[in-house]
Amino acid sequence: MFTSRPIGFVSSPYKDTSEIPKGLGVKHEAEGVLTILPEFETGLTDIEGFSHLFVLWEFDRSQGFELLGSPPFDNRPHGVFATRSPRRPNPIGLTVVELLRREGIELHVRGVDMLDGTSILDIKPYMSSIPSESLRRGWLAEVEAGKNQGTVLP
Ligand SMILES: C[S@@+](CC[C@H](N)C(=O)[O-])C[C@H]1O[C@@H](n2cnc3c(N)ncnc32)[C@H](O)[C@@H]1O
Repeated sequence: MFTSRPIGFVSSPYKDTSEIPKGLGVKHEAEGVLTILPEFETGLTDIEGFSHLFVLWEFDRSQGFELLGSPPFDNRPHGVFATRSPRRPNPIGLTVVELLRREGIELHVRGVDMLDGTSILDIKPYMSSIPSESLRRGWLAEVEAGKNQGTVLP
């Protein structure tokens, strides 16, 4: 296995997890900056042409993991790999952000949902090739349709 190391850090308006919007259908509109370490700047070449990016990052302020857990908007337990829980065996987060502009080693983005100072592990251009009619949303679709008795909607 490789040992991960940050390629940069997130500047985000969120200093505490309680400030980050949560809930069903929540839209993340907050702007932030992904500052890439100077030694990796060459790796940003041509990134300006992409409207959206995948950001892989570390849940550096979560501890341990839970294989079954209930998200805040459902009272049923789901497997960690069927959720976006921060408490995972490998604490890796994945966020799609909109690239607003690049200024050297700084990527100004919209859509951050991570805490200020979060370590960035990788960045890749977002490319969606799955037609929406082929997508299934599992247990989340049931919650969205209000089928789950006792569901607590935000
Ligand atoms: C539900 S997770 C989803 C994150 C990402 N979009 C994903 O799908 O992997 C988002 C939550 O992670 C928590 N979080 C954000 N940054 C974190 C960090 N650096 N360390 C630990 N928890 C963090 C906050 O509670 C935030 O509301």
